[in-house]
Amino acid sequence: MADTHSKKILLIIGGGIAAFKSLDLIRRLRERGHTVTPVLTKAATEFVTPLSVSALAGEKVYQHLFDLNDEAEMGHIELSRAADLVVVAPATADLMGKMAAGLANDLASTLLMATDKRVLIAPSMNVRMWDHPATQRNLATLLEDGILTSGPNEGDMACGEFGFGRMAEPMEIVGAIEAAVNDGPLKGKHILVTSGPTHEPIDPVRYIANRSSGAQGAAIAQALLGLGARVTFVSGPADVPAPMGVDLVAVETAAEMLAAVESAKDVDAGIFAAAVADWRVASASDEKIKKDGNGLPVLEFAENPDILAKVCASSTRPKLVVGFAAETQNVIENATAKRKRKGCDWIVANDVSPATGIMGGSENDVTLITADGAEDWPRMGKDQVSQKLAEKIAEALS
Ligand code: C5P
Repeated sequence: MADTHSKKILLIIGGGIAAFKSLDLIRRLRERGHTVTPVLTKAATEFVTPLSVSALAGEKVYQHLFDLNDEAEMGHIELSRAADLVVVAPATADLMGKMAAGLANDLASTLLMATDKRVLIAPSMNVRMWDHPATQRNLATLLEDGILTSGPNEGDMACGEFGFGRMAEPMEIVGAIEAAVNDGPLKGKHILVTSGPTHEPIDPVRYIANRSSGAQGAAIAQALLGLGARVTFVSGPADVPAPMGVDLVAVETAAEMLAAVESAKDVDAGIFAAAVADWRVASASDEKIKKDGNGLPVLEFAENPDILAKVCASSTRPKLVVGFAAETQNVIENATAKRKRKGCDWIVANDVSPATGIMGGSENDVTLITADGAEDWPRMGKDQVSQKLAEKIAEALS
């Protein structure tokens, strides 16, 4: 889990239906020892009342730019800077537009212009508004300005439509906040981690999979978060939940995993811990294949793209790329050859023969293969392996 030392959060609540989730966000942040100074836009008061926000935050609610009382107690400049992080949740299309354009015509937008702290937004809006070129243009501007984001997620919307635009859940936002305020050697670095198995469909109800639980990838993401990294976590259908605080991209197939990896921008390091299926069914059936007495179905396979190798060969190759090699024989030789073949910097190799008890166990016994040779690590807990790897990554990126 990310550093949970108490932090001061200036929470700007925008006027969207998801404002009700911000009440829970306040509660969750306080439970974890953070203080929350709430600011409501005028539109936000149509969705939540200043009284409920103030009661949950245990703090005064700020609403108006020209409120003399507020200026006497704390001016808007000071208010914008007293926090460790400014959070906008929900960040409506309107608020994002104002931020991108640099408008400052009410308390919330003025604080966002005046602050010298980092800003994290949790966008929330109708799917069409989210997809609108104006919103996407504003988002690109905000990302370029270094604004952090949490969500939006894909899902059912209050308006009855479905798609991207749903505000991230409060605990996801808490995780993103803690990742943002966490100090560590990886602060400011963006690391991509692939994890879990992939599912390759045979038909709408059947698929080909493997036994990866996603535990190793999740532990690595957790350790990287703990050192202050921003982590994009591209995960197949794993048994282990994604750590709180990652930017989660949930995928099913190798093709989806490749697309998600290729759309991650400005990545400093890529850690490829996923157990990607090597083959998919060449043409998965759109209908459930029936047992109709006409003999057994024949499945023709096609090879999946090697995501790790593709990334290594791409023009946007991260500075550091780490692959994994689970072997049952000639571990070092096979892993050393794999490092060269795939073009990655390091390979984390391990022997997964049943006799080692590593598959499904809590310990691991790895060898780190780099250009300098093989470094044998003592057998230790999977969490400790992840911590040691995260520290090595921090050293390599410094
Ligand atoms: O070739 P092999 O599957 O043994 O390679 C393992 C490494 O390559 C792992 O880091 C895995 O995440 C990555 N890989 C990949 N895409 C594939 C197959 C493996 O990224 N299609």
